[in-house]
Amino acid sequence: MVTCLCKNRFGMLMVKWKIDPCMQAIKSCNVGSLGLSPSLLRTYSQNLQPAKQDVKQEKSVSIKNINYRTDEWTNVTPKILSHIGRNLHLQKDHPICLLKDLIVTHFYSKYTRSRDRPIFAVSDNLSPVVSTHQNFDSMLIPKDHVSRQKSDNYYINSSTMLRAHTSAHEADLIRSGLDAFLTVGDVYRRDAIDSSHYPVFHQMEGVRLFTKHELFQNSDEKLSLFENGVELPDKQSGHTLEATKLVEFSLKKALEDCMEELLGKGIESRWVDAYFPFTHPSFELEIKYEGEWMEMLGCGVLRQNILDNSGANDRIGWAFGLGLERIAMKLFNIPDIRYFWSDREEFLVQFRNQKNIKNLKLKPFLSKEPALINDISFWIPNNFSSTDFYDLVRNVAGDLVENVSLVDEFTHPKSGEQSHCYRVCYRHLSRPLSQTEVSDVNDAIKREIVSQFGVRGRW
Ligand code: PHE
Repeated sequence: MVTCLCKNRFGMLMVKWKIDPCMQAIKSCNVGSLGLSPSLLRTYSQNLQPAKQDVKQEKSVSIKNINYRTDEWTNVTPKILSHIGRNLHLQKDHPICLLKDLIVTHFYSKYTRSRDRPIFAVSDNLSPVVSTHQNFDSMLIPKDHVSRQKSDNYYINSSTMLRAHTSAHEADLIRSGLDAFLTVGDVYRRDAIDSSHYPVFHQMEGVRLFTKHELFQNSDEKLSLFENGVELPDKQSGHTLEATKLVEFSLKKALEDCMEELLGKGIESRWVDAYFPFTHPSFELEIKYEGEWMEMLGCGVLRQNILDNSGANDRIGWAFGLGLERIAMKLFNIPDIRYFWSDREEFLVQFRNQKNIKNLKLKPFLSKEPALINDISFWIPNNFSSTDFYDLVRNVAGDLVENVSLVDEFTHPKSGEQSHCYRVCYRHLSRPLSQTEVSDVNDAIKREIVSQFGVRGRW
């Protein structure tokens, strides 16, 4: 194994063991493939004129019957907006919903107060449209922080966006008086295209706050939650070390128990130090899967400012955020993240009315057709980011594309112009694709590059 410097999207470097993307491992499972919805298929085969790439040319954009003004920050696309309301986490018998239920049931039964009343409240129906204040400021993410970039997020306008994490609701829920809650929802990020990344996925957030009495269990000692100290690697300036250690213990125990419950007692796991602007200390939990360490979640002791700003200044607490797709892919042996959005009966039926959910593995029902590869090179415009190209590809080719990677960058020695070469890997989840069909889609992508970026292609 090799050590390396890695970053999460909050940007701080950490030293940790090199982990291959989890899907390298999952991909090798010989699980079959499945298909796209009939309506998507019609879109690909009959109409290769893409939907308008973004809606910023329009004065306003309507989401769930509410109109939002657009401005120079607007970068949501009709394709992305079409995912709002699908709510896979609320669809009975959908693997994302099944996994959510498993975790919720675990927290309900494990943490109770008198008369078996669960401690944790669940909110799974909050709108993904949030303010930038909720998504960033309320979680202490600085104004100039990299995670706010337009190239990483879907903005409706400069002050409204599709949430990039379920942490966007933490401050509001704490302010509403909750001391322990789980929040589940769809989150939106402009990201790479491969078998483990999709611009929409589902997160579960967990928060638990403690009063002094709850944390120290009425012990006789004169222990306190707060002190006027200095920040150290293992505690915040306002927290005592003993309070921090107890909160950290409760957090790690809760998550280790939950993972064991889902993935079995024998799983190997380890904690890695991490950085998030809203927690300190912060950690990531990694699980060993088929010989590789795989990052499962981020968590930590909540920054006290968040509690103070939300009317809970007499409490200390922990928070975690986990990606449901990532765990579901591992738990159910699902080889490609596009499967979750499929409405193919062969896929959905395997999860319907199943008793032993935790032992359910997706059975191959179609053979995996070989991928067709096409390279596309073009001169990049000013202020270009690769996510602009990924969005364009998703708009034109939708879920026919399994993977896009930047394979070459070139700077013209005289003009200084830069070009990118992207390798686009096409694979339908349920049927062979012909090279003619793929060429049509590829040509449509090229036309769109020219019309959208106003650049010369290199083809
Ligand atoms: N919001 C973080 C993310 O999306 C995860 C997280 C939640 C980390 C809560 C710490 C505490 O990456």
